[in-house]
Amino acid sequence: MEILKVDKLCKKIGKREILKDVSFTINKGDILAFIGPNGAGKTTTIKCILGLQKISSGHVYINGFDIKKDFVKAIERVGCIVEAPDAYLYLSGMENLKIQARMYKNVVMDDIFRVVELVGLEERIHDTVSKYSLGMRQRLGIASALLHSPNLLLLDEPTNGLDPEGIKELRTLLKRLAKSGVGILISSHNLSELESFCNRVCILSKGSIIEETTIEEIKEMDEAKYILKVGNVKSCKKYFRDHDIVIDEEHIEVFRDEEEIAKLIKLLVENNIHIYEVRREVMSLEEAFIKKSGGNIID
Ligand SMILES: Nc1ncnc2c1ncn2[C@@H]1O[C@H](COP(=O)(O)OP(=O)(O)OP(=O)(O)O)[C@@H](O)[C@H]1O
Ligand SMILES: [Mg+2]
Repeated sequence: MEILKVDKLCKKIGKREILKDVSFTINKGDILAFIGPNGAGKTTTIKCILGLQKISSGHVYINGFDIKKDFVKAIERVGCIVEAPDAYLYLSGMENLKIQARMYKNVVMDDIFRVVELVGLEERIHDTVSKYSLGMRQRLGIASALLHSPNLLLLDEPTNGLDPEGIKELRTLLKRLAKSGVGILISSHNLSELESFCNRVCILSKGSIIEETTIEEIKEMDEAKYILKVGNVKSCKKYFRDHDIVIDEEHIEVFRDEEEIAKLIKLLVENNIHIYEVRREVMSLEEAFIKKSGGNIID
């Protein structure tokens, strides 16, 4: 059974359709990258899943429970950070966790120690939160979200403001959680930042899911990026496509599959264009996706 099933979720605010038939699932151990530009509807989707916003139509099931019918049971094993983790700045991390722990029936001191260790905040947990860096606040937020041992974790842009080291730590932490069976949704407007975290990707644009796929599938697309070195790009521009990218006077970046690149090279040679180099490059997930979706929908 899926940990989370979002089924044809629609959200209207006034006459505006914010979400249109959003459907996706999260299974045990999945880390789903929920990607979309600003205003796509990521936060709204997360809020609807959490019952913080009313659903106009469609269904959300968490651990098999419909949030409309069995809200308490559905929400019982969910941990989340929406928009930004909030904490009492003038209290210590530990005091914040103790306050949060009171919201749950069965959370004991041992759980607090467990999450503090899990996010690696042992040494600073007695400092006041106002002295924490942004990354440490994020970690405290995640610790807080994990107190009651959820099996579904919803993180809205948790990489915001993290430095590369912080992102690396978050990746290690989330991978460890996923391995223990937690299903994770992590939203971002930056696919490349998440590609090393996730096994699945959901792309949201203007309130609709335009792609739901696995990371492998995106990476295995046969189109590849080639860098061609020619004598003079300007003199042979007519043989390239509109979305090929001129790097400098001699280099151009083209996206083709194997058949097409062979044809392009033949065409150039037949027209006496000198080719000095053809290099195949691995596309980043973001580039691959942009090519697949046929446009730049990601900020
Ligand atoms: N309370 C509201 N009233 C009216 N419109 C809203 C409300 N909340 C969100 N919206 C609109 O819904 C759309 C989706 O917003 P949402 O915050 O879900 O996007 P997002 O993908 O989380 O964007 P970001 O990357 O900026 O966080 C936006 O166009 C926003 O203006
Ligand atoms: Mg948002």
